[in-house]
Amino acid sequence: MSEKKFNVAVAGATGAVGNQMIACLEERNFPVKSVKFLASSRSVGRQIRFRGDMIPVEELKEDSFKGIDIAIFSAGGGPSEKFAPCAAKDGCVVVDNSSAWRMDPQVPLVVPEVNPHAIADYRNKGIIANPNCSTIQMLVALNPIRKKCGIRRIVVSTYQAVSGTGKKAIDELFDQTRAMINFLDWKKNVYPHRIAFNCLPHIDKFMENGYTKEEMKMVNETRKIFEDKSIGVTATTVRVPVFYSHSESVNVETKEYISAEEVKKLLAHAPGVRLADDPANNVYPLAIDAAGQDLTLVGRIRQDESIPNGINMWVVADNIRKGAATNAVQIAEILAKDYL
Ligand code: A2P
Repeated sequence: MSEKKFNVAVAGATGAVGNQMIACLEERNFPVKSVKFLASSRSVGRQIRFRGDMIPVEELKEDSFKGIDIAIFSAGGGPSEKFAPCAAKDGCVVVDNSSAWRMDPQVPLVVPEVNPHAIADYRNKGIIANPNCSTIQMLVALNPIRKKCGIRRIVVSTYQAVSGTGKKAIDELFDQTRAMINFLDWKKNVYPHRIAFNCLPHIDKFMENGYTKEEMKMVNETRKIFEDKSIGVTATTVRVPVFYSHSESVNVETKEYISAEEVKKLLAHAPGVRLADDPANNVYPLAIDAAGQDLTLVGRIRQDESIPNGINMWVVADNIRKGAATNAVQIAEILAKDYL
C-alpha cells in the first residue's frame, strides 16, 4: 500500500454491512486520513468507534462528500441511486454495494480475484459496483476453472443467510426462534412467511419470467464479470434460517473436460479460496466455519456423472464479509493503490 492516505466516507454506516465495512477498514489497515460515517436522520446522535475514536454519525445528504476521496455505500438501492452521483460530482469515487449501478454498462462490476482490471473504468462515472453476495462467492470458486477449461453452463441453488436482508431480518430470525422454542406466538415483519425452522424459495421480488430478482442478478452479474454473454446460468435462490454465510450447490458444465481431482488441485491454490474437501473425515464447507473470515470455502467437489464435462461443488462464504464489506474494501484498496 502506498504512503498516501485518504478521506473515506461510509454511507449506511449503522447497518449490518456498513458496520462490517468499518471493521474491515480497521482490520485491513486501510490508509485512512479521516472517516465520515453517514446514515439516515434516524441515526444522527449515534456514535461509532473507529481506531479508538468515537465518530458521530451524520445524515447522508447531497453535500456529504465534499473533500471525500472514497465513499463506500451500503445504504440500499434508493439512497445509492440518489447520492452516488452527488458524491462522484464532488470528485469522490464510490464503491457501491447496492444493485442500483451493477448493470450500468459504464459502471465496472468487480470481484478483485476475478476482474480487478475493470476497476480502471471507474473513470466513466466515478462509481464501481460491488456484486451481489451470492455471485461473488460463486465466481471466486469458478474463476480458476473458467480460466483452465472454459465454462458453458452453471446451475446453482443457494441457501442464503438472513443477514443478507439486514439487521431487521437478523432480529426476526432470533425473535421467531425464541418464541417458537418457548411455545409463544411469533410475529413476521420482514419476510412474507416464518423464517425460523423454514426455507423460503423467494429472495427479492418476483420478475415477469417467474424468477426472483436475486436469481436474475446471479445470471446477469456472472456474465458481466466473466465478460462472456454466452455462459448459461440458471439459479434458484433460497433464504434459510442461518444468521451468517451463504451456502451454494454449484453445478458447472465446462467446455473442456476436467477431473474432480484437477479441480481440487486448482482450487487448493486459488486466490481467496480455502479447499475444505475431505469427506472421509467429515470435512466440507460449513456456514459456521465460513462466518467471521474472508475466504470462500469450497468442497464436495465431484464429477457430475450425468454429462461428459460436469463438476459439482459446495461453496460457502460469509455474505457480510466477502459477499459485501470485504469485497468492497478490497476494491477500495486496489483503487487507492493503483489509481488515486
Ligand atoms: P439507519 O440505521 O439510520 O436507518 P441494514 O441493511 O442493516 O438495514 O442497514 C441499512 C443502512 O442504510 C443503515 O445504515 C441505514 O441507516 C441506512 N439507510 C437506509 N435508508 C437510508 C436513507 N434513506 N438515507 C441514508 N441512509 C439510509
